Amino acid sequence: MALVKTLDSIAVAGKRVVLRLDLNVPVENGQVRDATRIERAVATIRELCGKGAAVVVVSHFDRPKGKVVPGLSLAPIAPALAAALGSPVRFIATDWRNGKAAEAARALRPGDVAVMENTRYHPGEEANDAAFAQVLAALGDIYVNDAFSCAHRAHASTEGIAHLLPSVAGRAMQAEIEALEKALEKPARPLVAVVGGAKISTKLDLVGNLLGLADTIIIGGAMANTFLAARGYEVGLSLKEDDLFGTARQIMHDAAGLARSLVLPQDVVVAREFKAHAAHRSVAMDAVAAGEMILDIGPASVAAVGAIFAQARTLVWNGPLGAFELTPFDAGTVATARAAARLTTQGHLVSVAGGGDTVAALNHAGVAGDFTYVSTAGGAFLEWLEGKTLPGVAVLTA
Ligand code: 3PG
Ligand code: MG
Repeated sequence: MALVKTLDSIAVAGKRVVLRLDLNVPVENGQVRDATRIERAVATIRELCGKGAAVVVVSHFDRPKGKVVPGLSLAPIAPALAAALGSPVRFIATDWRNGKAAEAARALRPGDVAVMENTRYHPGEEANDAAFAQVLAALGDIYVNDAFSCAHRAHASTEGIAHLLPSVAGRAMQAEIEALEKALEKPARPLVAVVGGAKISTKLDLVGNLLGLADTIIIGGAMANTFLAARGYEVGLSLKEDDLFGTARQIMHDAAGLARSLVLPQDVVVAREFKAHAAHRSVAMDAVAAGEMILDIGPASVAAVGAIFAQARTLVWNGPLGAFELTPFDAGTVATARAAARLTTQGHLVSVAGGGDTVAALNHAGVAGDFTYVSTAGGAFLEWLEGKTLPGVAVLTA
């Protein structure tokens, strides 16, 4: 990945900065449930204000599909941003269909921060329409993108606008790219990848790319069941993708050819019901009964993963190893996450994790703060790991 331009290369004093954030945060009953994305925006906003810029924040929220959907307004998010900043943030209501947005932005003074209404209220946002990119560019003099988690979208506010204004990455975007480059471009080896989650079908490109990069790939979660079944193991009622057995065999074949080690569970925790506290047992991989389903990796597998981590220098983690949202089937994910966190805080391991469920799992294990870097991005993190070029990053390269 070529170098992105950063705030170090641009003078912002007296300018209006259009700042793309990802304010698409989880909201429940009008309250922000997880403010991580908002908190990570604070450094860039403070820097811009401190240097004498006025800040016009643009973001999408959810998927209103080009229509004004009142329930998907960014209005309730502006106070959460103000709380994180510890200073006032105004909200500018607009349907993006008249000239009022630019007028309101022009009224801002150095040090002011305003949040504009949901960019996806206009169909031109997702279409990356040139006229809508112009509307956004008219809000300011400089464009700063601090929304890595939206960089896989070539939308007007993430891509189109960057062709119209001097454009750089904000500090959170910069930190995210640096962390991912450290883990993937020139990693200290051995490089170990953990790939979990429900379906191989959504992780094929990821595993394909990791086969070229990682020394060891640990497969867990329900996607491991497809590999195990393809190898001929009884997996009972476990979630699996029958149509991907051939693909799974091909991946195992490719891994062997490349001398990569692809690690599957050697023992598992099984139950007869998919629910918290269901009666369960730990069994060797060849002892799953037809009426049982695999819900977690077993203790021998946890130990094996811990031993692999102990030899590793770099770890990339995407996806939980079991049904971590159901106690006690969180045990494998929690124990291995804690092992990685311990090695990281001891200075033995660079650990980078990302993807929606992954962050929730690390928070559940209480170790998100101990990893070297935890990405708040879902799709963008995955696409980076897949080796894809992210349009929102590419457009910021010098
Ligand atoms: C996200 O939360 O994944 C980002 O904000 C992007 O949102 P999207 O998946 O609706 O494009
Ligand atoms: Mg998404």
